[in-house]
Amino acid sequence: MYVWTQSGLLPAAVLAEQLSGCKGLLCLLTDQISRPLIDSLPELEFVSSMSVGVDHVDVAALTERGIPLGHTPGVLVDTTADAAFALLLSAARRIVEADQYVKQGNWRDEKAWSPDFFTGKDVSGATLGIIGLGAIGQAVAKRAAGFGMRVLGFNRSTREIEGIENVSLEQLLLRSDFVSLHVALTPETVNLMNADRIASMKPGAVLVNTARGGIVDEHALAEALRNGQLYAAGIDVFEKEPVEADNPLLSLPNVVVAPHIGSATVLTRAKMADLAVENIIAALSGQPMPHCVNPEVYS
Ligand code: DGY
Repeated sequence: MYVWTQSGLLPAAVLAEQLSGCKGLLCLLTDQISRPLIDSLPELEFVSSMSVGVDHVDVAALTERGIPLGHTPGVLVDTTADAAFALLLSAARRIVEADQYVKQGNWRDEKAWSPDFFTGKDVSGATLGIIGLGAIGQAVAKRAAGFGMRVLGFNRSTREIEGIENVSLEQLLLRSDFVSLHVALTPETVNLMNADRIASMKPGAVLVNTARGGIVDEHALAEALRNGQLYAAGIDVFEKEPVEADNPLLSLPNVVVAPHIGSATVLTRAKMADLAVENIIAALSGQPMPHCVNPEVYS
């Protein structure tokens, strides 16, 4: 058994080398489990990822080999919805900008409270568009209801959910003051929020992304935020993680960023670890994984 105990990312070459001859793998979303890697591991029998998203894994390559892939759904729903709402509120009310303003000693008599001092955008009573009505999207909708927001929803296959008005993606972008993304990163959702869709958003809207960076054209988003078409953004996930220093979103005052911490509470991470281990124990016992992404491997 090999355990990566060092801090920081596990280099792909070390992963490939250490996995050679292994039957099972417990990985994180930062490990790229590609087809070439899978092909180089004839003895591999199961993979358990401590994540709900599995865009870092070539699921088709595993399924073709009859290898089950475990993940950790459910347990991070509320924590991630909380994070999405925290970003939404921070972006709307300029909380991070205000925090820096005070800490940097700028709040002085000559730059103090005035009627338009740090004015932001109202959340209460505004319209929130949720793209992706899975468990996290629905949990965000519940929070929005508490803020008196009108909630529009778009899902690939329509879901009737109380309090959410189903609309087309085009209508959602046109009508929403806030848009929150909750779809998995798949070939169909790569660049879903492309330049045209960003341009079609309601002027002055706020975009929140706690899903995956690859869903959004970051350059188009930065331009829309720079030229004032969009009011602000709250971004927890980036196309390339860790984010590169020259990513245009990082230099904009109206963007609140975080380092992919949507599920980062002590309790939720412990629950995710538990599920990842449950999947491994099942696989080692010759049982189907209880939280399996590709259960067809068992039929
Ligand atoms: C996941 O598990 O896919 C999340 O992105 C972690 O926060």
